[in-house]
Amino acid sequence: MSEEHFKNVISHCKEYGFVFPSSEIYDGLAAVYDYGQNGVELKKNIREYWWKSMVQLHENIVGIDASIFMAPKVWKASGHVDGFSDPMIDNKDSKKRYRADVLIEEYQEKYRVKNQKEIDKAKARFGDTFDEAQFVATNPNIARNNATIAEIDVKLKEGLESGELDKVRDLILELGIACPVSGSKNWTDVRQFNLMYSTQMSATDGESQIYLRPETAQGIFVNYLNVQKTGRMKIPFGIAQTGKAFRNEIVARQFIMRMKEFEQMEMQFFVRPGTEMEWYAYWKEHRLKWHKNLGTDAGKYRYHDHVKLAHYANAAVDIEYDFPFGFKEVEGIHSRTDFDLKQHEEFTGKKLQYFDNETNESYVPYVVETSIGLDRMFLVLMSNSLQEEDLGEGNSRTLLKLPAALAPYQCAILPLTKKDGLPEIAKKIMKDLSLEFNCFYEEKDAIGKRYRRQDAIGTPICITVDHDSLTDNSVTLRFRDSMEQRRVAIAELEHIISQEVSMKTLLKGLL
Ligand code: GAP
Repeated sequence: MSEEHFKNVISHCKEYGFVFPSSEIYDGLAAVYDYGQNGVELKKNIREYWWKSMVQLHENIVGIDASIFMAPKVWKASGHVDGFSDPMIDNKDSKKRYRADVLIEEYQEKYRVKNQKEIDKAKARFGDTFDEAQFVATNPNIARNNATIAEIDVKLKEGLESGELDKVRDLILELGIACPVSGSKNWTDVRQFNLMYSTQMSATDGESQIYLRPETAQGIFVNYLNVQKTGRMKIPFGIAQTGKAFRNEIVARQFIMRMKEFEQMEMQFFVRPGTEMEWYAYWKEHRLKWHKNLGTDAGKYRYHDHVKLAHYANAAVDIEYDFPFGFKEVEGIHSRTDFDLKQHEEFTGKKLQYFDNETNESYVPYVVETSIGLDRMFLVLMSNSLQEEDLGEGNSRTLLKLPAALAPYQCAILPLTKKDGLPEIAKKIMKDLSLEFNCFYEEKDAIGKRYRRQDAIGTPICITVDHDSLTDNSVTLRFRDSMEQRRVAIAELEHIISQEVSMKTLLKGLL
């Protein structure tokens, strides 16, 4: 995938009503976006796929919906007031601001790309007999590149964890990293920059500073005992939540990849202390399966262990996707220990312990968290699905090959003409199918043109009502990916469409 493809994704999102820049008629607002009529459906379906896979398919996971505003002390306890910051650096010539660690990680990425090129070359040379694992283990160029990556990791970690940020700046200078805009290496010092937004809330005793939550997780932690007690939950159990989070990102770019207002889908899994690594391994594998179940190219996913662990974690891994601009995090799986609950105990003076009937002891549970950005997942699907398909003889079509169950519309109902009673039949079909599926209805333009429009928004099935339908009570189904056409009885429609596009079919892949 190329930068060119990424540009196509962005313009396709705008042109077909998926994503618009926020307040566009006022020239937009940096790193803030609105979802349009098709985008909102896709987003809702991704959320539903996540929710059902977590809550509906796990008997020991329940959901909540906590508020965006929380008692300000929550963020002191969680460590966000003092520690939720990114190291930033400015280029004095371009006046552009960057995350210092991201500049270094992008530099490392070049070595990973070199390694991949070596592998691809060798694969092409040796064909079926190629043993990738052996090649990676023995190739001297790959070994050298990996050693460079590891050496940089060590230095970066040293600078970030010690808080001696001049070491991070020195590393940028040592690696000769230049500003992508000015090309110069004229850098300021590296400084920490807190990412939380705050505002004022009126109270009887005046105004108090309050934060917009930077993660949904804390709403789960502060409710953990409420849910455990009222739901009679037994450890291990999970609490899931989806909702908005806000971060004053220094480098807000790459479209909906890094936004100031975004949506998270998080699940905290409460476990007996000492079992957290087992559950960490379970969720690491289970979450990757969820991604691969969408039919996205499996080779485009990889795990990336964190170099710098967040203040709350004893192990953390990212699930990364190969975006048009390289591998980037889509989801994090974090073993958060008992850090958060213990902090909330300390700051509130309230016990947040769980009594374990099996071991006859009380303890503060450990937590394994899965945290995925809904907007990033949206971008994964758009990047992966959009293609220009060559149909031969100089023809092509724009195809959005979304997983059928997640497409904005599951089917489009298209009477061949606007007269002769065809719209009446089509409307009757629409009325019946709309109870189960999101259906699109259109009468205007030649049928070929209408098919192309549905291809471009990812509708998996078109239902065409023609003159034969008046007598044979049948319609033509036209499938998005194969363009195959099949005649079926109107009475069969609901059953057939359900098998092809239902969430149930998608979820079955997880069992
Ligand atoms: N509760 C843990 C937590 O918030 P995180 O790695 O900071 O962990 C989790 O965020 C996920 O949220 C990321 O993997 C990413 O998909 C998404 N995310 C984080 N910051 C984002 C931003 N500025 N814009 C869009 N998505 C973001």
